Amino acid sequence: MENIERIREDFPVTKSKLFLNHSGYSPLPQPVADVMKKYNEDLCCFEVDETKYGLGQEFFAELIGAAKEEIALVPNTSTGLNIAANTLDYSRGSNVVTTDLEYPSVVYPWLKKSLGVNVEYVKNVGGRILVEDIEKVVTDETVAIAVSHVEYVNGFKHDLKALAEIAHEHGAYLIVDGIQALGVIPVDVKKNDVDFLTASCYKWLLGPAGSGYLYVRRELLEELEPPFIGWASVKPEVFDTSEFWDIWRLQLSETASRFEVGAPSFISFVGAATALQLLQKIGIKNIQRRVLDLTEVLLDAVKNLGFKLTTPEDEECRSAIVHFLIANAQEIAEELKHKGIIISARSRGLRVSPHFYNTEEEIEKFISELKAL
Ligand SMILES: Cc1ncc(COP(=O)(O)O)c(C=O)c1O
Repeated sequence: MENIERIREDFPVTKSKLFLNHSGYSPLPQPVADVMKKYNEDLCCFEVDETKYGLGQEFFAELIGAAKEEIALVPNTSTGLNIAANTLDYSRGSNVVTTDLEYPSVVYPWLKKSLGVNVEYVKNVGGRILVEDIEKVVTDETVAIAVSHVEYVNGFKHDLKALAEIAHEHGAYLIVDGIQALGVIPVDVKKNDVDFLTASCYKWLLGPAGSGYLYVRRELLEELEPPFIGWASVKPEVFDTSEFWDIWRLQLSETASRFEVGAPSFISFVGAATALQLLQKIGIKNIQRRVLDLTEVLLDAVKNLGFKLTTPEDEECRSAIVHFLIANAQEIAEELKHKGIIISARSRGLRVSPHFYNTEEEIEKFISELKAL
């Protein structure tokens, strides 16, 4: 990547640490921290100029190939998934299809007894979820397929288009947790026919916690009643054009803001908007190429050391996450942390997740420290 040294200046973490844990909780780039600081200073003096600070809906929309009107602000991915789960109807005997590789928040919303829906788990085969296995489980009783675009432990990447086709053939929805994909994997919700997609910004999107977005396909907006309703859910004119709020009838917003409830964490979204612009400037395709190259080096080195990978190796289902099995993973992660190398211990192994501003030298340093242990 050209100008990598210049780019790394925007990432103060590179001065003191070898950070390889973007699938966990990412450090803020300097421009993101700066805009949040400025916003706070303006807030202290009651001088926030709303026209200067956006909340990033248009940048998130651009990132996923959607329209701004299809994007709602949510505090995190788990809330976005719960909104999707609680806005759909479940008749007796209906089911939601998911996988055995999911993060809890992708599954828990549907385990709530009062929804009365069965959860069907498609089992992974050597760390992959096969499309044909999903096809076997989805029926006309299926209300939705719910998956993470990229699975959180081993980084397996689903083919969203194939899942959408299966879902729609049976009149079901495709609900996607995008938190481990967005920022490193190009996503187009229109080309892939996704119905719901949600993600926080604190991982690969390099924003602060407290900011997240929910995409709901335009055609669904008006037919879906939000599970929670507050002042933010209604048409702007209900407030703007009247002296009082009209509290005698509910006029839900025609856009995805009908899924918003009350005041968002403005400062988090101000940071997220800057982070999204920063990523778009680099280009998601460039970022993907870069992380695939870095993780290729990592995959080879890990294999050469004799560790068992749980990450599938072929490029079409790979992401920026590499996971391999190792004894005493927790202790090793702790020891590396003392040396300033940040990775995570997950599922009896180590999970390593570089972003575009990491370098091959950093990957080599991680490998040599691992060898030394
Ligand atoms: C796939 C996946 N979904 C959801 C989450 C949690 O997201 P949030 O904190 O935004 O609810 C994580 C966090 O690790 C994750 O890996």
